[in-house]
Amino acid sequence: MSSIPVGIITVSDRASQGVYEDLGGPALRQASEGYGWQVVGEVIVPDDLERIQSAIRSLNTQGCGLILTTGGTGVDVRDVTPEAIRGIMRVEIPGFGELMRMRSIDITPNAILSRSLAAIVDRALVIALPGKPQGAVECLSFVIGAIPHAVKLAQ
Ligand code: MTE
Repeated sequence: MSSIPVGIITVSDRASQGVYEDLGGPALRQASEGYGWQVVGEVIVPDDLERIQSAIRSLNTQGCGLILTTGGTGVDVRDVTPEAIRGIMRVEIPGFGELMRMRSIDITPNAILSRSLAAIVDRALVIALPGKPQGAVECLSFVIGAIPHAVKLAQ
C-alpha cells in the first residue's frame, strides 16, 4: 500500500470557534504527506461526541483508510474523543495506545494523562492522538510501523 488516503480531525472547542488557530491539523497533514500518504479530508469539530462520530463517518465515506484525530484524549470534562470512537467502533486495538503512552512518558510525565487509542470504525483505522501538535506527531511516529498493515486489515 503506497499511498494511504488519510482524513484528519482536529477536536477542539476553541479551534472550532476560531478562538485560536488550529495547529494540530496542519502538523498532522505535514507528517502524513511526509509519510507519502494522501490527505483527502480535514475537519475541525468541537469536543462533542456526535460531531466527532459524524466527522469520522463522513471521512470514511470519502474513502479514508486512515483517520487521525488530535485532541480530546485527556481527562478534562469536555474530553470525549475516546468515548466517541468507542461508541461506533467495531474493535479496539489496545497496543497503539499502550505504545504511544510508553514511548511518550520519556518525553513528558503528562503522557500518562492521554487516553490515546486506535480502533477499526467501518473500514478505517482510526487513531486518536493527543491535542498538542508536537505530541500528536510524536505519537504517530511511535506507531507508524503497524499502520499500513492495520489499514489493510480494516478494508
Ligand atoms: N504525548 C506526547 N508525546 N507529547 C505531549 O506533549 N501531552 C500530554 C499527553 N500526551 C503530550 C502527550 C498532555 S499534557 C495531555 S493533557 C494529554 O496528552 C491529553 O491531551 P489532549 O486532551 O489534548 O488530547
